[in-house]
Amino acid sequence: MTTAEQVSNQPAAATVATPAIAVENIVKRYGAFEAVKGVTFEVADGEIFGLLGPNGAGKSTLIRMMTTLIPVTSGRALIAGHDVVHEPDAVRRLIGVIPQALTSDIDLTVEENLSIYAKLYGVPRVQREQNIARLLEAVDLTKWREAQTKTLSGGMRRRLEIARGLVHNPRIFFLDEPTTGLDPVSRVAVWEMLDKLRTSMKLTILITTHYMDEADNLCDRIAIIDHGKLVALDTPLALKSSVPGSSVIEVQFGKNHVDRKSQLEQLAGVTGVESRGSGEYRLMTSNGSLTTTQLVEMATTEGTPIHGLSVQNTTLDDVFVYYTGRQLRDEQVKALSFVMPPRPGMQP
Ligand SMILES: Nc1ncnc2c1ncn2[C@@H]1O[C@H](COP(=O)(O)OP(=O)(O)OP(=O)(O)O)[C@@H](O)[C@H]1O
Ligand SMILES: [Mg+2]
Repeated sequence: MTTAEQVSNQPAAATVATPAIAVENIVKRYGAFEAVKGVTFEVADGEIFGLLGPNGAGKSTLIRMMTTLIPVTSGRALIAGHDVVHEPDAVRRLIGVIPQALTSDIDLTVEENLSIYAKLYGVPRVQREQNIARLLEAVDLTKWREAQTKTLSGGMRRRLEIARGLVHNPRIFFLDEPTTGLDPVSRVAVWEMLDKLRTSMKLTILITTHYMDEADNLCDRIAIIDHGKLVALDTPLALKSSVPGSSVIEVQFGKNHVDRKSQLEQLAGVTGVESRGSGEYRLMTSNGSLTTTQLVEMATTEGTPIHGLSVQNTTLDDVFVYYTGRQLRDEQVKALSFVMPPRPGMQP
């Protein structure tokens, strides 16, 4: 099980001696305020690694330290073995960074934005032209290369910034909330693009987000950050399995509404039952299909009709609630607060 105490810091594919990113007990203090409180993790070569957390969790602060943009208070961060404090130039050559705010120049064309950046990095002309052509194709902006950046939609501008961050062929790509504010279709387009770029450019990607579906779809592993601390780290699947009960079953019985709570608690896999009145129950289970089968068999044997039945798998939202005791976002509030046993030491 993944808990704050048992955080697995070993990448899934531990075949590479030097991790792409190694962060060791890193701390950032602004005066008396500790924004990052001793975080440790490693990212393997080729991984897509997500930092997931609510506003103010410390995601951008972590990225800024890893990318040499702000001083580290204590602890250390190594990028492909290079210390961000002692070898910042070596680190900068290896990384591409997309900051949280849009930073492309709206008065330049798409191509000019890319070209200026490539020149800043000293990419030779022939290489520059090849890279720009290939990246424009990869982010689907080839036909917009002459367009002024101010005429692009939000999604297109994000794609331009992704291309710009890659124009010097970095090995490790940091993206701070690259899809915030985009519509769902544009967000999915960005995920697909990042996944393809990871393969074609052999990139390691570290991405921050507060979108659960994004982290779930895109990331090989996810670190959940809350109040400057790492509270869980694992694959999306393992994180979801670490929440007691991997599915929620809702059932509505017809006919005589006798109390079935204790009967339902006996079904295989059930970790909790909530009676909602009028023959309706919610069951938490570690084995959704087995519990559902037994539930239907029970009702059939008794001759009790089932008027409604739904089975829903645990989502990363449930994971976040479990580890932090809070919803990630107010608008993502859903009815899953029942029978969530508190973690030891978790604040109510
Ligand atoms: N320069 C600064 N001086 C003082 N406090 C800061 C500074 N930068 C960030 N903070 C504080 O550090 C904490 C972490 O901020 P950070 O920007 O890293 O959060 P975040 O996880 O990126 O949030 P968001 O999702 O809103 O981008 C916040 O409480 C923030 O107010
Ligand atoms: Mg941020």
